[in-house]
Amino acid sequence: MALLELQGITAGYDKNMILRDFHLSVSRGDFVSLLGSSGCGKTTTLRLIAGFNAPVSGSILFDGRDITNVPLHRRNFGFVFQSYALFPHMTVFDNVAFGLKMRKTDRRETEKRVMEMLELVDLKGFERRYPREMSGGQRQRVALARAMVIRPELMLFDEPLSNLDAKLRVKMRVEIRRIQQELGFTAIYVTHDQEECFAISDQVAIMNGGVIEQMDTPAHIYTRPRTEFIARFVGFENFLNLQRRGGVLLLENGQPLSVPEAPGTGDTFKACIRPEDIQIAPEGESLENPLQGEVMVTTFLGRNVQYNVSTPLGEIVCSSAQEHVYSIGSRVTLGLSGNKIILIEARPNS
Ligand SMILES: Nc1ncnc2c1ncn2[C@@H]1O[C@H](COP(=O)(O)OP(=O)(O)O)[C@@H](O)[C@H]1O
Ligand SMILES: [Mg+2]
Repeated sequence: MALLELQGITAGYDKNMILRDFHLSVSRGDFVSLLGSSGCGKTTTLRLIAGFNAPVSGSILFDGRDITNVPLHRRNFGFVFQSYALFPHMTVFDNVAFGLKMRKTDRRETEKRVMEMLELVDLKGFERRYPREMSGGQRQRVALARAMVIRPELMLFDEPLSNLDAKLRVKMRVEIRRIQQELGFTAIYVTHDQEECFAISDQVAIMNGGVIEQMDTPAHIYTRPRTEFIARFVGFENFLNLQRRGGVLLLENGQPLSVPEAPGTGDTFKACIRPEDIQIAPEGESLENPLQGEVMVTTFLGRNVQYNVSTPLGEIVCSSAQEHVYSIGSRVTLGLSGNKIILIEARPNS
């Protein structure tokens, strides 16, 4: 049974509905990320789970119990936000102790648990400092300790690392994952950073237009995106129209495309392919699923070179680690690796 379940949630602000018939199911102990572009409703979803906002319809179940109308302070969830939201006039100790004080925990127990948490986030010895005397990364660790000290069954993170510099972000996300595994809490983590969420999550839910478009393990999302939107999110840059005629898949120029496994039903597909799964060779060379073209743009990317190639099917982006660099205007052959192509059935309205 799922620990947390959002069923048919419709919610928004005034008359502007952000989530429509939204579903989410989170298993106990899982680290689940909500990924999506800015404004897609990630924070709104988190606020509903926390109890800051209420849905217009639908229900929220926690451990099988309907908590849709349970007030925030009785949900016992922990939050960590982007802005650390520490109390500036309180020491680190008092910031971390805050949730325990609210729960009238006795002094000795409070002391013990605060010190445990500070040790866990590697801030032992900082008890008497004030937030202004600490770096961004340290403050965020105080926020983490403060949220976890009440031993919540569910931790909610809203882009907690986005105010930190790139290096610290990577370090902190490993820390968060380590602590989550050590304490065993369930986590919902909101981010717009794909790499970050793939690195730390058991499950990733990608949001688009107020719904979850795909929820799966990072590896499955990466290798088996189910929609063009998801495919674009995980690095597919080429989308070729395909028609099935008499059992054969035809590209727009009438050329057959060979793939190892023909899709089940439907006649219209998008073939999605990543730049690195397209070979590039001098014109006339024989390659798998060949396409002739002319190099329009050459971009040096360090480990490889990216080419924008004009072909009868439009512009195709490929990248190659070869030392030979094709200059602008070169006539080339592209080879589409059939076993790397993802076929997505085109929807009537796309
Ligand atoms: N307090 C609010 N009042 C009115 N509209 C809001 C409020 N908060 C968010 N919105 C709107 O709801 C939409 C979703 O916002 P949000 O959930 O914050 O997105 P995300 O966290 O994915 O960037 C946005 O269009 C935003 O402008
Ligand atoms: Mg947000």
